[in-house]
Amino acid sequence: FHVDWDLMTAEKGGYDHFMLKEIYEQPKAYRDTMRGRVSEDGKSVTLSELSMTPEQIRAFRRVHIVACGTAMHAGMVGKTIIEQLARLPVETDVASEYRYRSPIITPDTLVIVVSQSGETADTLAALREAKRCGARVLAITNVVGSSVAREADDTIVTLAGPEIAVASTKAYTSQLIAFYLFGLYLAQTLGTRDEAFVANMLAAMQALPEQVERILAQAETIKEIADAIAHNRSLFFIGRGVDYAVALEGSLKLKEISYIHSEAYAAGELKHGTLALIEEGVPVIALLTQEELFEKTISNIKETKARGANVLGIYNEGQEAEVAKSVDSQFAIPRTLPLLTPALSVVPLQLLSYYASLALGHDVDKPRNLAKSVTVE
Ligand code: G6P
Repeated sequence: FHVDWDLMTAEKGGYDHFMLKEIYEQPKAYRDTMRGRVSEDGKSVTLSELSMTPEQIRAFRRVHIVACGTAMHAGMVGKTIIEQLARLPVETDVASEYRYRSPIITPDTLVIVVSQSGETADTLAALREAKRCGARVLAITNVVGSSVAREADDTIVTLAGPEIAVASTKAYTSQLIAFYLFGLYLAQTLGTRDEAFVANMLAAMQALPEQVERILAQAETIKEIADAIAHNRSLFFIGRGVDYAVALEGSLKLKEISYIHSEAYAAGELKHGTLALIEEGVPVIALLTQEELFEKTISNIKETKARGANVLGIYNEGQEAEVAKSVDSQFAIPRTLPLLTPALSVVPLQLLSYYASLALGHDVDKPRNLAKSVTVE
């Protein structure tokens, strides 16, 4: 692959691995990605880099989000963000599938491509197809001047800084921040959310970096859990809503660097097949951050417990007592708005995969068979 960053910045800075360094850089990446994009009074989003006009925004009838790998998982959270904030219908596609399904791309479609490197061949090809059909293309990328950034109509740059480890961490969470900002920008332009709502969400976003720091301060707890699960052959991640999107990312992270087989399931879908694979001692990592769905997910956890699963619950602070009854081990994340929980809940999952890989003696930063940037279709 191709390295175009400053080697000085690329040093591990005292960390054993780039991945760990990048996990710990997330509070800074959140702050940098938000900086200059929130008005001084904290009441609105300013994305001065966008050239799309309010009239053009009002003309959008649908949104397509296209990406690969971890960027796709950020896009899945992005779908919920845009649908909830702007009430526009959003479809997500992995870039390698998008072109081949004759997607309905019209001039009133906004196509958002998400790519850390901005060079992924499938994503670039999807972008070109979208443009050929007359759609407007917005790129969310970490690399200024990348192919995706050059060819898109508009670009939001995530300011995560160079990401070296193959397993993406700070680029993913910065993509989430970009989606929150863009979702709010659409909402304020379309009038789907009022100023008080936007101000409240922006205030909650400003609190995220410090909340991530509080999670990172508990890395030792996650390490103990990782050491305990590292020798299992297979495990499951479950969640509903945005927790399901985060479950997919947690599962991918674990597979990428620890080579442990895992699957992510929408918690309510378990009973339609996967439950057959749950037997004594199988670890299940359950995300429970969505209060509206809490009881439903607890029921799904009980279904796995009844088959002998060993459940780790990841939930919002303050629900210890309710969660304790149904799980074997638990990890609380600081309280935030339901839509913002992915920016916190993914962090313990990143640490979990890091420590599992370490426990198994694998090359954390350079997993077998994988590349940082995939420039072939
Ligand atoms: C590769 C990397 C993944 C990444 C994906 C998309 O598979 O190993 O970590 O998520 O490409 O990369 P991009 O640069 O487009 O975000």
